[in-house]
Amino acid sequence: MSFSGIDPNFTLPPRFYTSTEIFEEELERIFYSRWIYVACEADLPKPGDYITLKIGTRSFFLQRTESGEVHGFYNVCRHRGHELVQGETGNCRRLICPYHNWTYDLNGNLKHARGMDADFPKEDFGLNPIEVAVIGGLIYVCLSSPAPADIEQVRSMLTPYLAPYELPKTKIACQKDIIEACNWKLVIENNRECLHCTSNHPELLVPLYSSGFGKGLDKDNVQPDERRFQEKLQEKEREWENLGLPYELIEFPDNLWFRTVRLPLANQCISHTLKPEHACKKLLGNFKKPEGSGLSLWTHPNSWNHFLSDHIVTFAVFPLSVDKTLVRTKWLVAADAVEGVDYDLENLTHVWTQTNAQDQSLAEGTYRGICSGGYMPGPLADEEYLVKQFLSWYSDQLTETPVH
Ligand code: FES
Ligand SMILES: [Fe+2]
Repeated sequence: MSFSGIDPNFTLPPRFYTSTEIFEEELERIFYSRWIYVACEADLPKPGDYITLKIGTRSFFLQRTESGEVHGFYNVCRHRGHELVQGETGNCRRLICPYHNWTYDLNGNLKHARGMDADFPKEDFGLNPIEVAVIGGLIYVCLSSPAPADIEQVRSMLTPYLAPYELPKTKIACQKDIIEACNWKLVIENNRECLHCTSNHPELLVPLYSSGFGKGLDKDNVQPDERRFQEKLQEKEREWENLGLPYELIEFPDNLWFRTVRLPLANQCISHTLKPEHACKKLLGNFKKPEGSGLSLWTHPNSWNHFLSDHIVTFAVFPLSVDKTLVRTKWLVAADAVEGVDYDLENLTHVWTQTNAQDQSLAEGTYRGICSGGYMPGPLADEEYLVKQFLSWYSDQLTETPVH
């Protein structure tokens, strides 16, 4: 794949959003080769719990073992290749293939192989594993082996930021899937800037300053409209120091694939809600009182996440085809929080349900424009530098990642 002649300060030429050949290449070089955010520990609370997932054409499942680890395997039996587990979620202590009942334990070892002689080497026919990494309760997988070793660097940098929220002690209060009629890169590009926020996200801008999401963190170059944000930031930084909460911006260091930062919430908000009240009475981790900030985390190629003192919202993007993209949102609350008592589901999910619908409309509208026949790459503003950063990372993957 050549990017020569493509201006890095502009959006991509139309073929990158519409060509099925380029889409196939993206699956190979990015989604089958890189660490991909897929789920979180709260999806698998008990030993034996499993979830099935698909990236591109590849299907696999994640399961919690008896000893509490999360393992992942391709969803295929080693006998004649029948799919092993069915449905999106479930629980079992033995994986029994429906075809001829070959049976595997939760570590993927073949325990019973119907029809085979007594001396059949069962140890050679365990399930085909995938690489799994859990960081602060977020589950990343890699469908190639060996997986990129940079996961350990990401883990050591991110863990202190995520630890205060104790994600493994949460439960999923709600999950919503949206299928957007657009190329997956438009979902990510849209997520990497907040230039569109003031004209499109009235609900989101109640708890959020538009600063911090592509502008406003350059302390030597403060724009007049960022003054209030800057003042709040300074005040909160002192509080975060006292609370021992990490807050410094880490932005795609050493070619790594994440950006994280703690940002103050706007309008006295203490959660991603429309009123300055918490969305869930039970707080997460070690928080003793609601904290008016959010830790945000973005990972290439497919996620963004917001950690509040009373809940977590996490977003995973799965490309389904060149023009269809699944956006999966999960809202997490403390495991012992009770719906209707500690939180109201509609209140908890309102801001991001509205925001997701607005972003869906923007990404789909952009896709229709790109397919109009008249689209030409457009210039990116300074405030859209994280879009440039994503496109630069993307072009590196397509030119440098070997196909496995
Ligand atoms: S295909 Fe699974 S037991 Fe035969
Ligand atoms: Fe948006």
